[in-house]
Amino acid sequence: MTARRGTNFFAEPGVSGFIHRAFTKSMGLGDDELERPIIGICNTFSELNNCHRHFRELAEAVKRGVLQAGGTPLEFPTISLGEIYLSPTSMLHRNLAAMDTEEMIRAQPLDGVVLLSGCDKSTPAALMGLASADVPAIMVSGGPMLDGHYNGERLGACTDCRRLTAENRAGTLDDATYKAIEDGIVRSAGHCMVMGTASTMNSLTEALGMALPGNGAIPAVDSRRLRLAQASGRRIVAMVAEDLRPSKILDRKAFENALTVFSALGGSTNAVVHLPAIAGRCDVELPLDLFDEISERTPLLANLRPIGAHQMEAFFHAGGVPALMRELLPLLDGTALTVTGRTVAENAAEAPPPDGDVIRRRNEPVRPHGGTAIVRGSLAPDGAVIKHAAASPELLQHRARAVVFEDLDDLRAKIDSDDLDVEPSDILVLRSVGPIGGPGMPEVGNFPIPKKLLAQGVRDMVRISDARMSGTAYGTIVLHVAPESAVGGPLAFVQTGDEIELDLENRRLDLHVDDAELEARRAAWQPPRRPYARGYGRLFLDTVGQAPDGCDFDFLRGRTPVEIEDQAK
Ligand code: FES
Ligand code: MG
Repeated sequence: MTARRGTNFFAEPGVSGFIHRAFTKSMGLGDDELERPIIGICNTFSELNNCHRHFRELAEAVKRGVLQAGGTPLEFPTISLGEIYLSPTSMLHRNLAAMDTEEMIRAQPLDGVVLLSGCDKSTPAALMGLASADVPAIMVSGGPMLDGHYNGERLGACTDCRRLTAENRAGTLDDATYKAIEDGIVRSAGHCMVMGTASTMNSLTEALGMALPGNGAIPAVDSRRLRLAQASGRRIVAMVAEDLRPSKILDRKAFENALTVFSALGGSTNAVVHLPAIAGRCDVELPLDLFDEISERTPLLANLRPIGAHQMEAFFHAGGVPALMRELLPLLDGTALTVTGRTVAENAAEAPPPDGDVIRRRNEPVRPHGGTAIVRGSLAPDGAVIKHAAASPELLQHRARAVVFEDLDDLRAKIDSDDLDVEPSDILVLRSVGPIGGPGMPEVGNFPIPKKLLAQGVRDMVRISDARMSGTAYGTIVLHVAPESAVGGPLAFVQTGDEIELDLENRRLDLHVDDAELEARRAAWQPPRRPYARGYGRLFLDTVGQAPDGCDFDFLRGRTPVEIEDQAK
């Protein structure tokens, strides 16, 4: 692919160039504007995505920057993944958004592109798409929401949605107060403001080098976000001149830096799915064990909920990702290149020092290691994920009886029943909620505590599934069990009454059932019915990978061969 795809398109001789220019002039653009770098602004605005509701204004700021630097901005839409509104789960549509992003960047005459994202899946989708399209690109996030408030109490979406719902179900929070909190928990535009999936992925975008410093934490409604968007518009025009493409930034160094920042943030377990998916587009392997290895050598420095005490607004005032990366620099590869055209070390030299509370110093961390671990064993031969920093320490070494729910319908039917045979020490197992079984690996891994135990004061139990969970959630939750139950992983064969052992110290997750019995259960097993016979759902079921591979479609992994790019021109 040659540089200046956009300007070349308008400069073509003969009828092609004539048509390209004539139709574009119909939008009011003149010859001089078509000779400048053509910058796409990929806007995921939607009225079915509250997190992106300010993106029209954000896009205007990017445009100002592009114009200031002598480029021509052309805004275009791609699909928008509003976490709250998509069923069965937004994860089903992440790969669709990534394909939309990749194909629209590649198919349109763009010299460079600025991508606006924010809500959970939109950021990994944009990164996957831009990595595969490999046109000079820069990400601008929408930024986190302001803190929620009720009656003097600071609230976080959606860590407190879950906590307060549990209290309401337990009868310790009255219905009127529970209802009134709805008005004050989500106060502004922007994505969820604890260190959930959106905050994690937007912070990691900065760590990967794909956004300007500050992008991860500036609040959505702070004017500095508009100025960052404008600066990004200016910068992309220079990146086109430098031919600074994603393939020059998204290398192994960048991904290992992102893993280190992820560990120091105590970020969402969803990153353990999204980062391998993005890396897979760049021919970089990120095996699960690398998450554990890097987590073990990285102190957890961000004192942010759901693990710590603060939220994104405080993180921003404490210096945000630049301050965190400055403190982490000895553990990072400072030579990694970023969209600034400078290295991670050069960017860090301009960052403020951490404040010592919201962003801790390395010698006074929140915890000595990262927040997430990988466990393996007879129940999860290909691995499973646990955010142990947000778990109950006394449950991290736990051997107990399994209580099994076949799927979400079975869970809903039984969880509030007084007849459910369950004790506080039991291990709850939920299956058929993986990438294929879910389908789309819904965020249900932190499924509820049985109502009768809630009433007894129980607030946490070991819960195991092939699902994901929201980055804003907490508890002793084992997720992403692979292989998943729907493809015949051992999770499919667990029965109520079996013994399961979680042994975090030795990174083990075992099902204590003898091999002959397991074989008999396997022989009698029938795969679940496939929910989609046609359309995108069928493509998803036919080609989606398992969690350790990032749940990308098999045909989307790897770099696009150059000869195919050339054919397309
Ligand atoms: Fe968009 Fe939480 S709903 S990030
Ligand atoms: Mg979420």
